[in-house]
Amino acid sequence: MGIFRTVRSVARFSPLTLSRRTRQLDRAANVQDLRVLARRRLPRGIFDYIDGGAEDEITMARNSAAFQNYSFSPRVLQDVSAVDTSTTFLGQHRPFPIIFSPTGFTRIAHSDGELAVARVADRHGLPYCLSTLSTRSIEEIAEVSNGDKWFQVYVWRDRELVKDMLARAQHHGYTTIMLTVDTAVLGRRERDVRRGFTLPPTLGAGTILDGIRHPGWTWDFVRHDPITFANVSGYGGNSAGTAVTLSDFISDQFDPALSWNDIEWFRANWSGHIIIKGIQSTDDAVRAQQAGVDAVALSNHGGRQLDGAPTPLDLLAPVADATNGDLPLICDGGIRRGSDIVKALALGAHACTMGRTYLYGLGAAGEAGVEKALTMLTSEMTRTMQLLGAQRVSDITRNSVTRIQ
Ligand code: FNR
Repeated sequence: MGIFRTVRSVARFSPLTLSRRTRQLDRAANVQDLRVLARRRLPRGIFDYIDGGAEDEITMARNSAAFQNYSFSPRVLQDVSAVDTSTTFLGQHRPFPIIFSPTGFTRIAHSDGELAVARVADRHGLPYCLSTLSTRSIEEIAEVSNGDKWFQVYVWRDRELVKDMLARAQHHGYTTIMLTVDTAVLGRRERDVRRGFTLPPTLGAGTILDGIRHPGWTWDFVRHDPITFANVSGYGGNSAGTAVTLSDFISDQFDPALSWNDIEWFRANWSGHIIIKGIQSTDDAVRAQQAGVDAVALSNHGGRQLDGAPTPLDLLAPVADATNGDLPLICDGGIRRGSDIVKALALGAHACTMGRTYLYGLGAAGEAGVEKALTMLTSEMTRTMQLLGAQRVSDITRNSVTRIQ
């Protein structure tokens, strides 16, 4: 009975996993698979709020596509039995050069929201940057994380409110602020316009139907406390729960007059590190260096602001040259693979941030999904270094990549 022997030798039945979500998560091979799972679980309007970008989404697409313009130049026979992926960034030693980017309204993806992301970051010894527009407060994050906490600042017209948030962050041990400077007005995210997306989402015939089609998300959403901008509750805006479009909210609340002169104001009101997030030119990187900031994030807000803005990856080498390699650079945008991180490091980045990558994980399966997204990046980065022949991060240099003509 050769047939039975053959079948028996190859049959491997794993114990039946009860949760369909756990099974799907186990099978996800990469971040793109997490995106597909998130798209299935989330109502369309919510998925598009996360996944979409400004106008024709050209910049958003290029952010990721830019990585394909580089191939690796591997070295062999380098004894890569134990590669060291750790780096030091802003004086802190970290196991990977990875930071969790700030994302507003995170609980819209899953009730675990910002708490989940902060917990995952803490468990792995990586910084988590909380958005001004978060749906959990500065204090709530401090309760669940003893790790390195950063706070992202949008500059409100009401400077007293900004001052108050900075004082609260300082009091709760946040080490660093990221000052986002690419949002003088909101970029036009046309998917949100088409879907009439508001914060919080309103209930209409369309959204109810969408909710019925996505019962996992809907059940999770209705069972948990209402979503508000937790840091600015009591300061007007939509804290009372009024539905507004994000662009109306930002035009009302944010200060478009923000300028280089304001950096001094931040120095006077914040004693930790200051990072400018949203640098999109070599000249501005040099200007930021002269202003004495601790680091900059080369970023176009994940392609959600100025469509046609340059990609962070393409800016890296010219900015690193113009700042003599002395200004710590974060590459923010389009990171979907550990190999993307290695390419960014090769071109001059000191660390990389990820936004949608962890949001896809969160939208797919809550905290377990965020954990999965991070594990994918870290294992891919480790393997890429092994196959590239880089024993440590300092072995990753411009010679490690070649631009494809
Ligand atoms: C963001 N981003 C963002 N940035 C910021 O400074 N404050 C914020 O509140 C938000 N909110 C936000 C919401 C969502 C849904 C997304 C996708 C992004 C931008 C974010 O910090 C980061 O710059 C980009 O996400 C980086 O691009 P990738 O990694 O998403 O490709």
